[in-house]
Amino acid sequence: MNIRMIIIFYAYHILIHVPQVSLAFESISQSISLVDDGNTLVSKGGTYELGFFTPGNSNKRYLGIWYKKIPIQTVVWVANRLNPINDSSGTLTLNNGNLVLTQNNETVVWSTTSNSYNKPENPVALLLDSGNLVILDEKEENKELYLWQSFDYPTDTFLPEMKFGLDFRTGINRRLTAWKSPDDPSPSDFSFGMVPHNYPDAYMMKGDKIFYRSGPWNGLHSSGSPQVKPNPIYDYRFVYNKDELYYTYSLKNSSAITRLVLNATAYVRYRYIWIESAKRWEIYTSVPLDLCDSYKLCGAYSSCVISDSPVCQCMEGFKPKSLQAWYSMDWSKGCVRNKALRCEDNKKDGFVKMSGVKVPDTTYSWLDQTLGLEECRVKCLENCSCMAYANSDVRGEGSGCALWFGDLIDIRQFAAGGQDLYVRMDASELGHVNEGHKKKGVLVAVTVSLVMAMLSGILMLGWCYRHKSQNNVKDKSDFSIKGHLKSGIQVDDGDLPVFNLSTIAKATNNFTFSNKIGEGGFGPVYRGILIDGVEIAVKRLSKNSGQGLNEFKNEVKLIAKLQHRNLVKLLGCCLDEEEIILVYEYMPNSSLDSFIFADKLKSELLNWSKRFDIICGIARGLVYLHQDSRLRIIHRDLKASNVLLDKELNPKISDFGMARIFGGDQNEENTRRIVGTYGYMAPEYAIGGLFSVKSDVFSFGVLLMEIISGKRSRGYYNQNQSHNLISYAWKLWKEGRPIKLIDKSIGETCFISQILHCIHVSLLCVQQNPEDRPIMSCVILMLVSEFELAEPKQPGFFMKDSSEADSSTNKQMLSSTNEVTMTLLEAR
Ligand SMILES: *[C@@H]1O[C@H](CO)[C@@H](O)[C@H](O)[C@H]1NC(C)=O
Ligand SMILES: *[C@@H]1O[C@H](CO)[C@@H](O)[C@H](O)[C@H]1NC(C)=O
Ligand SMILES: *[C@@H]1O[C@H](CO)[C@@H](O)[C@H](O)[C@H]1NC(C)=O
Ligand SMILES: *[C@@H]1O[C@H](CO)[C@@H](O)[C@H](O)[C@H]1NC(C)=O
Ligand SMILES: *[C@@H]1O[C@H](CO)[C@@H](O)[C@H](O)[C@H]1NC(C)=O
Repeated sequence: MNIRMIIIFYAYHILIHVPQVSLAFESISQSISLVDDGNTLVSKGGTYELGFFTPGNSNKRYLGIWYKKIPIQTVVWVANRLNPINDSSGTLTLNNGNLVLTQNNETVVWSTTSNSYNKPENPVALLLDSGNLVILDEKEENKELYLWQSFDYPTDTFLPEMKFGLDFRTGINRRLTAWKSPDDPSPSDFSFGMVPHNYPDAYMMKGDKIFYRSGPWNGLHSSGSPQVKPNPIYDYRFVYNKDELYYTYSLKNSSAITRLVLNATAYVRYRYIWIESAKRWEIYTSVPLDLCDSYKLCGAYSSCVISDSPVCQCMEGFKPKSLQAWYSMDWSKGCVRNKALRCEDNKKDGFVKMSGVKVPDTTYSWLDQTLGLEECRVKCLENCSCMAYANSDVRGEGSGCALWFGDLIDIRQFAAGGQDLYVRMDASELGHVNEGHKKKGVLVAVTVSLVMAMLSGILMLGWCYRHKSQNNVKDKSDFSIKGHLKSGIQVDDGDLPVFNLSTIAKATNNFTFSNKIGEGGFGPVYRGILIDGVEIAVKRLSKNSGQGLNEFKNEVKLIAKLQHRNLVKLLGCCLDEEEIILVYEYMPNSSLDSFIFADKLKSELLNWSKRFDIICGIARGLVYLHQDSRLRIIHRDLKASNVLLDKELNPKISDFGMARIFGGDQNEENTRRIVGTYGYMAPEYAIGGLFSVKSDVFSFGVLLMEIISGKRSRGYYNQNQSHNLISYAWKLWKEGRPIKLIDKSIGETCFISQILHCIHVSLLCVQQNPEDRPIMSCVILMLVSEFELAEPKQPGFFMKDSSEADSSTNKQMLSSTNEVTMTLLEAR
């Protein structure tokens, strides 16, 4: 082979006297150096070019390699990424077999360290058509014996023919380190490299934390990337022997252009492919792929299933270590065995096969590529701390043996392409655990009974639905005051502070308009300050019911006994012949509607976690009203403006028990009141006046949709105005794109599966038939747990605007404000 120093002058450089003559060298030798005035070193076939460049908006100079034929400068390697040159005085020379980059011909900013013990006789530096910058000795027979090569020192890009991994003989570990930014090629803390565990794996690191694990090679692909398949563009190969451990790929047709790049802005490793016709790079694949690729997301003995909600699922035979953490979506504590292993007698142990998985982290692993599956099983059984085994090569019938010791972590389950893992289990657990991963039933039952136990006394899931709405009565005497007095609840005088009207008048500046903070269905609300500085909210109700004062008083006292952290606290009352005044704790953050329907800035204050807390808080408040309090209150006007937020944005339901204070319906002759707000009212209530805990559940479902979507239930959400929020949500659900419902202000994509789960729950709450709707304690269970939800049935779309309500029957609006609460009177 004749590699000689050839200097090619481009013809036009000579003919036209350009002041700076750009020279394209084919090699660098002792007597030829590369200076930063347009000189470059070009590979023989003209594929790659080495020279000086300035990245992005930087003003620094770097020596790097890029594609010569691609119009968008795409740098694949940088020499002096740690030491940029601040001017154009860089010079690259070959000195005793090493490349040396200097500034002003004096300061060395970068150099190579050739692995040659003998001084090379005739060293030369070449850029190969693979993009590899190499130094070799021309006198050396074997031209592939490089003194140094850039492929051993990759930056952020992994080119075809490169080896990603280790050379045990030289100690070189070829790993990728992302640029800090497109303007700054210096190494960021985001890197990706092979790790020589007994059963080798590859880790993507963010600082000293593992960010993503590719999974060990299983003969076909990395265990975590079953999507990688033979393809028309490149071949790939994994090599693991006593000398080397690496992954590499090569082009099937050298005219294709592809590269793998680690990127610290997006925190991914992209595979790009150059699309010549469009003259642009296209992302072909990337890892990590989704939430389930987050390292150790689900903790020990649990696997991540991206199609499930929540994504983390205990492995069969295991249960959450901390129920509380688990149901608050913190899965990091992982799962523990239902039944401990009895190691002293290993005959008592067996294995359960999990199919379709990415095998666990291999930090504590053992590998023997000569053993078969049965020998592997025996090997694992012999050692108490062996927790799982699998074939190390899944090709064909499978071969090789990998063992795992200690906790099994970072497992995920794939819909297709995963492999089998055999997990150690107490023999008694083997019988009732099904093969494979179709174990939902068992898991659900376990989970549910655990949670149910927590929810004291509720024992069956079916109960969520079978539970008859026993309060599904016409709006009448059950809820009358008389009914309660008859039922013998004692009202203890002195329980409830009674305020003088003058005190309240003083506190509210005599009910001055500027103190008014709202107008509910039952009357205006004022902010007030008592003499001792305590802030209060004062609700002024006009008393236009036939009830007597004492009955009112008794009712108020009962309501005041309801205390729960998700209910606004009633501090006292003030009773007069003409009016009732209720005094509440003051909520500085106003109501939920002022956040979720507000401008972008305010709605962004409520990130998803906060919204989820609010949702759960409201649900807990309702459970208390519905079943935990002794009164069994049905709210009947649950809506965003009736949910107040305290300093920490904790939700507190207000206006509960108002229907009671107003006496509901006392007897047959009376007019029947329908209290509620259109857009939130369950169809059976709005149309038939039939109310129950299930009509509150309906309102809760609507509220849930509003919190998720940031849209009012009463608006219209498509061009031809045929959909309200419920029907719009239903339409999106049916079309399989409920994701479109999510408020843009919730920027956090990592919660998507939880949000979708909540949309599912909201649709279950607004189903047409009250009996199909879950009761509130089950709603909480659904919100925080992982069991599979029923497919929602058609929701009740009932929504009428006020004009329709007016004209349809002789219904009449008593009060209507901006946040329209309507009390309809209907003569019967
Ligand atoms: C560039 O760097 C050199 C060496 O570090 C220094 O002496 C010189 O002042 C710098 N020039 C500019 C313009 O910053
Ligand atoms: C450095 O030395 C080379 C070779 O002697 C010369 O061509 C180049 O102009 C020098 N550069 C500077 C900045 O002095
Ligand atoms: C990282 O990827 C983003 C797009 O996701 C791109 O804009 C950016 O330039 C990339 N960074 C580098 C250093 O190439
Ligand atoms: C390689 O690709 C080019 C362009 O797509 C095509 O013309 C050529 O025939 C291919 N070569 C081989 C060996 O497949
Ligand atoms: C079990 O395996 C672990 C990890 O390889 C090893 O440290 C331990 O000595 C083994 N125990 C027995 C009894 O072989």
